[in-house]
Amino acid sequence: MWTEEHRQWDTVDYSSLKDGSAFPKEFMWGVATASHQIEGGNTNNWSAFEPRSKSQQLSGDACDHWNRREEDVTLIKELGVSHYRFSIEWSRIEPQEGHYDSKAIQWYSDLVDELLIQGIQPMATLHHFTQPLWWDERGGFEKEENITGWVNFCSMMFEHLSDRVEWWCTINEPAVYATMGYVLGEFPPGVRSFKRVRKVSLNLMRAHARCYRTLKAMKNGDKCQIGLVKNINIFDPYRRWNPLHWMQAKILDGMFNQCWLKALRTGKFKPPSALFSKRIEGLRGSSDFIGVNYYTHLLTTPFMPTKVEIDPLIRPWEQRTDFRYPMYAEGLRRAFDMVTNLKIPILVTENGVADDDDDMRPEHIRRHLLITSEAIADGIDVRGFYHWSLMDNFEWAEGYDQRFGLYHVEFETQKRTLKESGHEYAAIVKAHTTPQLVIMAGGLGTRLGEMSEKTPKSLIEVNGKPMLHHILDWAKTQGCMNALVLTGHLGEQFEGITHPGMALTFHQEKEPLGTGGALWNAKELLEQRFLLVWGDDWHPIEYKPLIELHHSADAPLTMTVTQAHDSKNLRHENGRLMLYDKHSESSETLNGYEAGTSIVEKSTVLKYGHSGKWSWEETVYSALSGEAAVHLDDTAFWDMGTPERLALFEKFLKDTSV
Ligand code: BGC
Repeated sequence: MWTEEHRQWDTVDYSSLKDGSAFPKEFMWGVATASHQIEGGNTNNWSAFEPRSKSQQLSGDACDHWNRREEDVTLIKELGVSHYRFSIEWSRIEPQEGHYDSKAIQWYSDLVDELLIQGIQPMATLHHFTQPLWWDERGGFEKEENITGWVNFCSMMFEHLSDRVEWWCTINEPAVYATMGYVLGEFPPGVRSFKRVRKVSLNLMRAHARCYRTLKAMKNGDKCQIGLVKNINIFDPYRRWNPLHWMQAKILDGMFNQCWLKALRTGKFKPPSALFSKRIEGLRGSSDFIGVNYYTHLLTTPFMPTKVEIDPLIRPWEQRTDFRYPMYAEGLRRAFDMVTNLKIPILVTENGVADDDDDMRPEHIRRHLLITSEAIADGIDVRGFYHWSLMDNFEWAEGYDQRFGLYHVEFETQKRTLKESGHEYAAIVKAHTTPQLVIMAGGLGTRLGEMSEKTPKSLIEVNGKPMLHHILDWAKTQGCMNALVLTGHLGEQFEGITHPGMALTFHQEKEPLGTGGALWNAKELLEQRFLLVWGDDWHPIEYKPLIELHHSADAPLTMTVTQAHDSKNLRHENGRLMLYDKHSESSETLNGYEAGTSIVEKSTVLKYGHSGKWSWEETVYSALSGEAAVHLDDTAFWDMGTPERLALFEKFLKDTSV
């Protein structure tokens, strides 16, 4: 049957996580939260249950996220991630049946806008364990007729947000909701009833299918990715020679994992402990992706504890997390293998660890990311990873005793502090993220005649949109989420410009400063290492090889050089720039042309820069001869220096319909 892999982790090489070679450039790097765990001040089935819960702790103000949204978006931004998964609190949106709270809807809409402005893609979960009391009192998911109520709420949110939110999770962990609420009794309603768990499970899958079909049929439905989030728990026989332990593992795997996954595949669902399966309309194929939440494996015997308080069995070499179950990263690969036959993209929608002193989390992150990168290298279609959680929060039945955050939260003062593990995650994300793009967009098109005497060239429309957007669109395909646009002294003309999914910062000069002066003037806004392009050139090269070369050359600057251009302005030898000569008439000693995209260390700007007006190319390229690295790439670049060249570019775009 199945094998329980264990790795010798102390001999593992993690360098690929740090040098940025472990994940593809379009990988979705995220963090996750859920409404009730962070917002504070919610009234729902959970707040009603809390006085009777195991810890009896009340969620209360939680992280007070409802009042600190902007600050928390900044925390996400500072991690450098590209995606954020949150859930929408139904009890806030529809506190009474049919009464929608427009302020609450607006709150989520603002959250989405604030994320997008920072270049962070939102992912919304429609049910993460909580529901309004009026609906709960009516039997919640125990009654099939209640499903419509929830789907109406989902449609309402989809109508408001689907123009900006592409990723949607229907239900978070239906198996956990059902088991914890109706078998282990740790979640509301806190009962132990096989009869009720069967009903609830069936209705959860019905609700998921109806939600998926309803949203898909709505406006934007075809553009959005909608999927179920499944917690995968790996079950392994405690004694591998004992058939009873095997049997127990098989039964639990069947009830907790297989029956749910099979239902998505076949449309027929046999809920845990049911004898027969039922066909659910619309269920087959009702997920555009599968969200995998993975935390651990459990070792099975026929006498396993049915209470979370009792320590689960672990292998002697395994380390217990604060939740008492072990860290077992190898199981994440087994979780991927389990869902691959759904034949849809996989997203790790949650993975993290309860670790109060943060001495385990950095290693936990490295192990799980390494396993994920290996799965991708083996051809498994894993698109993204959302760390659970952004910050310490209300951990359901455990209250505030289990801390899962990358940020530590001091609940008395609501102070957030990035933990060591947060730095670790951010560093791995950074190594895999395309650097900041800096666009020199101030140049006027004086040679373009009337059309641009007073308009920066980057704002001139080419084939239906300004040059700037052509540049940004290309950069986005290269994984850029963050651009600094140096607008020159006519910066007002850039006011109000946005670009979907990208964070734009504009920086203006008081007077014309030349290319060098423009960079110096914006030095506070430059990241340590940035890509530099010209606002009047469209240069569609792959950024990754340039960045990789820059890393390995360890240069202060690496420029792209083409040898296919009709004129030459530099000489290079053995991968280094030897001479730069912008105005040379005789090109005999020259053998290349600077093609426009370079990658620069901020320290280079600081070393050679000064205030006032000066030329970046002439000063820095000359100073760096023998030092700057050269990346050869003959991809044509398109500029708009003259009306003829602009016309050629326009024609090219039309012909290739870029
Ligand atoms: C849930 C989260 C929870 C996490 C850690 C997941 O099953 O979706 O809400 O905080 O586990 O226990």
